[in-house]
Amino acid sequence: MKRKKQMLPKTTMKMSDNNKQKLPIGFMDSGLGGLSVLIEAVKEMPGEDFLYFGDSANAPYGVRPQEEIKKLTFNVVEKLMERGIKGLAVACNTATSAAVRSLRETYPDFPIVGIEPAIKPAVESNRGGRIIVLATPMTIAQEKYKKLVEKYRGGTDLVSAACPGLMEFVEEGDLNGPDLPKYFDEHLKSYLTPDTETIVLGCTHYPFIKERLKEYLNNDNIEIIDGSLGTARELKRRLKEAGLLKEGSGKGKITIENSSENPAMGERSRLLLSMAGISWR
Ligand code: DGL
Repeated sequence: MKRKKQMLPKTTMKMSDNNKQKLPIGFMDSGLGGLSVLIEAVKEMPGEDFLYFGDSANAPYGVRPQEEIKKLTFNVVEKLMERGIKGLAVACNTATSAAVRSLRETYPDFPIVGIEPAIKPAVESNRGGRIIVLATPMTIAQEKYKKLVEKYRGGTDLVSAACPGLMEFVEEGDLNGPDLPKYFDEHLKSYLTPDTETIVLGCTHYPFIKERLKEYLNNDNIEIIDGSLGTARELKRRLKEAGLLKEGSGKGKITIENSSENPAMGERSRLLLSMAGISWR
């Protein structure tokens, strides 16, 4: 479905450049996962204000058809645009693969950055061992993902492991229980080889289970990487290019919102940010 080009809300369009700089940077994800990208963005741009929206009421996105993911993504983005933002991070690999192209066509000239599985850096540092990409079933099924793999894999032994149900551990705050290793037994073990060298976390929820995964692998030779820092830096670069970075120092404000009525989502978001030493202001 092709969408019409959208003008930004009038209030944003009429703003002076100076006032636009003061707007928050919008973040979206299907739930709490995008907080892993937000954490890197706050570290890169501590003076900026951030408005994060997690669509936990509709999570997971990663097992839905593409059109549905697109629709859900647009709903969230429209909300953020109405509130007034100066740039957007689609902090969800699934939403990026299903909707970022359409978003860019719909909001031309607006800084939009999406996240993709960090395949390029994994291949660049590869020393001949296996690369395993963990991502949602929808991310892996998308044409965009297949093209990404074909573009960068070269001669590497790269395999993609769909992980339905893994993001739920983060959404449900089940980070320390006994079920995670069981999940890895069922969904990851068969991909592991003695020469496995890198695991790419291709879903923004997964960095929050990185420590448990490390514990499970019990092998310091396996590097676990994700695209959150690269995405945060790209966002900064795009905002700078557009003259939208806030000037001056001082700490910015973080606003976190969620579509779920479950009051625990706020507390879980706070906990995930505090794990990275970021207090919610
Ligand atoms: N956090 C999302 C991603 O990066 C997806 C989780 C989901 O909703 O399935 O892919």
